[in-house]
This record gives sequence, C-alpha cells and structure tokens, in this order.
Amino acid sequence: MGLVSLLKNKKRTTLFTTPSHCGNFFILHKFYQWYKSDISETDTYNPTEELEAAEKKAASIYGTKFTKFLTNGSTSGIIAAILASEAKNILIWKDSHPCHKNGAKLAGCNIIEYSLPINREWGVYEAITPNMVKDLLNNHPADSIVITSPTYEGFAANIKDISQICRSRGIKLIVDEAHGALYPFSSDLPESAVKYADYTVQSLHKTAGGLNPTALLHSNDNNPAEALSMINTTSPSYPLLATIEKNINFLNSGQGKEKIKELIENIKALNFHQGGDDITKILIKKEGISGYELSKILFDKYKIEDERTNEISTMLLTGIGTNKTMLLKLKKALEGIYNEK
Ligand SMILES: Cc1ncc(COP(=O)(O)O)c(C=O)c1O
Repeated sequence: MGLVSLLKNKKRTTLFTTPSHCGNFFILHKFYQWYKSDISETDTYNPTEELEAAEKKAASIYGTKFTKFLTNGSTSGIIAAILASEAKNILIWKDSHPCHKNGAKLAGCNIIEYSLPINREWGVYEAITPNMVKDLLNNHPADSIVITSPTYEGFAANIKDISQICRSRGIKLIVDEAHGALYPFSSDLPESAVKYADYTVQSLHKTAGGLNPTALLHSNDNNPAEALSMINTTSPSYPLLATIEKNINFLNSGQGKEKIKELIENIKALNFHQGGDDITKILIKKEGISGYELSKILFDKYKIEDERTNEISTMLLTGIGTNKTMLLKLKKALEGIYNEK
C-alpha cells in the first residue's frame, strides 16, 4: 500500500492524539483534505511499513543504498549528511548555502574553507573541477568534502571523476544537488550525483514540482536515519511524505520524463541566452545595463519574476511546472527589452 492509499484508508477514530486539530478544518477550509490526511503515525527513525517501503522503492529508482524523504528541505539533508559521514576535518565552499557550515558546526568538525572562481561572462560562480578537488585534498588534511553541483545558476561539476578521486583517497563526498532534482530523469541534463557520491541532497520543491520544503537525502554510505532523527521533529508531515512518494513516481514515469523532455525542448526551441551546463536555468543579460536593472525591467514592465540576480546577469529558474505559455511570455519580453535602445 502506498502512502496516499494509507492516508485514504485510514480509519477515522476519535483522536485524543497529536495533532490536536484532529482532522477538523476549522482554521482554513482550503486545507480540508490536508487536515484529513494529517496523521500522527510515525517518525523518520521508526518508519511505518509504508514509509519504509516507499523509501526503499525510491532507493531502487535512484540506484542508491538509502533514500530518505525529507520534510524540512535540503537544509536538513545536508546537516544530516555531515553528521552521518562522521566528518572531522571537512572542506566547505566559502559561499555555500549556510546549512553547510551549520551542519559542520553542529557536528563539531574542523571547517576548512575553499573558494571557487567567478565566471566573468555571467558574474556567477563556476562549478568545482576534479583538478581543484585534487589540489584541495593534496593541501589539506580533510576526511570529507561538501560540494555544490549544480551551482544556483546551473554550472555542474564532473561528479563521476570527483567521486573517483575522493574514493581513492578515502574521502567522503557530500553533494548539494538541491537545484538538480530533475537530473536523474533526463539525459539532456547534467549527470546526477546520486549514484556516485556518498551523500546527495536534492530539493524536490525547487525544480521537480514538489511542495515546499520536500527534499531527498540519498546515501551510498551509512544509513542516515539516526542523523536525521537528531535534527528532525518526531512528527513529520504525512501529507508531505505522501507527496514525496507521488512526486518520485511521477518523475520516474513515462509521463514525468516526457514532461521534462518537453520543458527542455521548449527552452531549446525558443533559443534563450544560455550560461551554464543546465538548460533549465535561463541566464540572461543585456549589454549596457546591469543584471539588477534587467531584473527590475522584467518585473516592473513585464510582471516576470526571476530567481537570482548579479551585477552582470539574472537567472530565470524553470522546472517541471514551467509551461510553453510562460516561456513564450518570457521570450516576448526579452525581445522587447533587447530591441529597446
Ligand atoms: C545550493 C542550495 N543548497 C541548499 C539549499 C537549501 O534547500 P532547502 O530550501 O530545500 O532547505 C538551497 C536553498 O536555496 C540552495 O540554494
């Protein structure tokens, strides 16, 4: 029985349990179904059969040893991965998402910071390369490294080679793939780290159609359940867990893969400016104006909201929910902006 069926078939009893709304919808009518499904059944350290089965199925889909469903974002996955890896001296990118350093602090690790070069054409960070990893490992006494791939703007690292370098030296590799949750399901996108890294974290809610803040922690090393139990609530949201199961099954289905293909083909056909390795992150810029000015014009004049801006360019994030109409609107707006003197 899947998680959604479990919720549907759950017998309605008089609840003297948490959560105390007892499935009643007195706060917000819109969330009636959510309240009905909001049960207190399990925690991630002591999963019900259904959750365990759903996570096992997910692991077989991704080809990992363990895949854990996260209802507190990639943030919790990164922290748990650092705890589970038992790192002592850990290499962390200086400008990484704050959860990297927070995880290392919570784990009591010695943090060794590293820098990444800036891509001058777009004003964004480049991805780390295998040679950079080799140099870092030659020069620092680390036992773990956390890398971000892809970067926010879609620059992806050669994870396969980096994982080989790390494995040959007994270094644990943790990959923040928060922005790459579609990668395992498309050969047109950069290769995912899930099969190669010791730990990979992906946000389903960023690009893969998931609800905030659903995410995944994949491990080919230790079972991260105990580490997750140290930082997570013992009352995870069951409706969110159920959406994670459905989300993965959808991504892995013919329909899901077709949807990703359609997104990529639509972006290719409209011939947007492209910066990094991931076509779904549309990087744009205009000669003579800053990324911030471009972003403001998009918002004020065309009511288009971008994701992340720097001095030179701005990035529009697309995902499984981005349809052709939206892309055509963006294309038209850009034509207007580029044609303005
Ligand atoms: C690179 C990167 N890693 C991790 C995170 C944390 O992800 P979440 O919001 O799923 O906790 C973010 C969030 O923006 C991010 O950009």
